[in-house]
Amino acid sequence: MPSMLKIAVSALAAASTAYAASSSCSVSATTTIQNAGDATAVAACETFSGSIAVATGTTDDIALDGMKKLSGNLVATNNSAIKRISSSTLETLDGTLNLDGLTRLYGVDFPVLKNIDSIKWNALPNLQSIGFTAEVEEAKKVDIQNTGLRSLKGINIEEVDTFFVANNGYIDEISMQLGNVSESLTLADNNENVKVELPNLIWATNLTFRFCGSVSVPSLETLNGSLGLYNNGFETFSAPNLTSVGEALAIVANDKLDNITFPMLKKITDNLQIANNSALQEVSGFPVLESIGGAFDMSGNMSTVETPKLDDIKGAFNLQSSDNVTAACNFYNSLKSKKLIQGKYFCRGKVEDPGTEGHKPTDQSGTSTSGASSLSTATGALGLAAMAAVLLF
Ligand SMILES: *[C@@H]1O[C@H](CO)[C@@H](O)[C@H](O)[C@H]1NC(C)=O
Ligand SMILES: *[C@@H]1O[C@H](CO)[C@@H](O)[C@H](O)[C@H]1NC(C)=O
Ligand SMILES: *[C@@H]1O[C@H](CO)[C@@H](O)[C@H](O)[C@H]1NC(C)=O
Ligand SMILES: *[C@@H]1O[C@H](CO)[C@@H](O)[C@H](O)[C@H]1NC(C)=O
Ligand SMILES: *[C@@H]1O[C@H](CO)[C@@H](O)[C@H](O)[C@H]1NC(C)=O
Ligand SMILES: *[C@@H]1O[C@H](CO)[C@@H](O)[C@H](O)[C@H]1NC(C)=O
Ligand SMILES: *[C@@H]1O[C@H](CO)[C@@H](O)[C@H](O)[C@H]1NC(C)=O
Ligand SMILES: *[C@@H]1O[C@H](CO)[C@@H](O)[C@H](O)[C@H]1NC(C)=O
Ligand SMILES: *[C@@H]1O[C@H](CO)[C@@H](O)[C@H](O)[C@H]1NC(C)=O
Repeated sequence: MPSMLKIAVSALAAASTAYAASSSCSVSATTTIQNAGDATAVAACETFSGSIAVATGTTDDIALDGMKKLSGNLVATNNSAIKRISSSTLETLDGTLNLDGLTRLYGVDFPVLKNIDSIKWNALPNLQSIGFTAEVEEAKKVDIQNTGLRSLKGINIEEVDTFFVANNGYIDEISMQLGNVSESLTLADNNENVKVELPNLIWATNLTFRFCGSVSVPSLETLNGSLGLYNNGFETFSAPNLTSVGEALAIVANDKLDNITFPMLKKITDNLQIANNSALQEVSGFPVLESIGGAFDMSGNMSTVETPKLDDIKGAFNLQSSDNVTAACNFYNSLKSKKLIQGKYFCRGKVEDPGTEGHKPTDQSGTSTSGASSLSTATGALGLAAMAAVLLF
């Protein structure tokens, strides 16, 4: 390793003379820097084309002061000594800022950085804040995991392809001007009280929220993909402006959730699944929902399930509740009999162990019911009277 670094350093030394003469430098291979002096040498280039790697053994702080634009990656991995990486001048990083396994790192200070292609950070236990004072407004990919960050202040992007922030146990606030997400946004397993505010988000492909304390998406109008809410701590979730979901809507295992409101939602292209939300008794927040392209799959402790405008379910229908859902079953039974529900059909209340589609529940009287799948295969052949008889059983 020392000899390899020596070669890198002497190449750098040779090159740095050239750098000084020109404000624009281009290097095809990755330039490895191993101390503060190497950093100063490369930073003499106002525009640097090529990737820069910080050697594993580097102990100095690395300051790229002077460089304004880096077209390439800035990489520092597996270094247990380095404490600070910075540039007082860098405005654009057209590549990935990849920081991984830097156990002592506490400063990432780029006060004038505005545009970055990708942020890929992992295993930075001592990094508590992001020193992007000017706030990064453009980034295509953000992936931040296992850091000591308290907030994402410094990252305030308007649009993103993928945004993945997970396992950062101290982040308790995520708030951005984000307007759209072309691929996916996932916020998972951060501080369980994390308050998520996306006031300007209008459309996204996939949105996934896991273990969040609150989620606010007041402007969301369209989801080209799916919305997943899992294990969150909130009592209420509302998507007041959402009109369509391009794939699935899943609301699962949110223990305190007792109010879901989708007042404008007309169409879900794939499945609607609601399960294991133990406090959810009333599902009446879908007043204009007309069609579901996949399955309708709801199970839990509900006493009220109302979707007054729903008249088109292409997939299976499953409603299982520990409470009395006779009124709801009457409604869906009539849809099934009119062939407005095309797939397998099962609707039953007063069961001991409500479960998802295909689960065969036990009646509270203790008798095992004729289960979802066996009933559903027969359903197509059942006439209205027979169906009603089954449901009243
Ligand atoms: C960092 O260390 C891990 C495990 O020790 C190893 O798997 C990984 O390849 C290393 N990464 C780099 C870039 O050296
Ligand atoms: C994405 O959001 C940004 C910020 O709101 C906006 O400027 C841009 O036009 C949007 N792009 C698309 C394709 O909707
Ligand atoms: C998602 O839907 C919005 C609004 O309909 C549209 O502007 C956008 O181009 C779509 N994005 C993708 C990636 O399909
Ligand atoms: C969106 O989520 C669905 C279901 O999890 C997945 O199949 C799809 O590939 C995702 N799309 C993107 C762009 O991430
Ligand atoms: C909801 O959508 C309407 C119509 O598209 C829009 O005028 C309104 O500003 C949106 N509300 C919010 C809070 O974004
Ligand atoms: C449910 O939430 C909606 C929207 O946040 C609110 O308007 C409504 O009053 C709530 N319903 C109950 C019963 O708390
Ligand atoms: C609901 O909880 C049960 C019991 O923990 C589990 O077996 C089931 O897979 C959960 N359902 C979903 C949709 O996650
Ligand atoms: C119904 O409520 C009980 C008691 O709160 C809970 O233990 C159980 O998991 C809930 N069932 C479902 C399917 O949510
Ligand atoms: C369930 O509710 C209906 C009215 O919606 C009622 O007629 C029926 O007796 C109830 N069943 C049980 C077992 O409580």
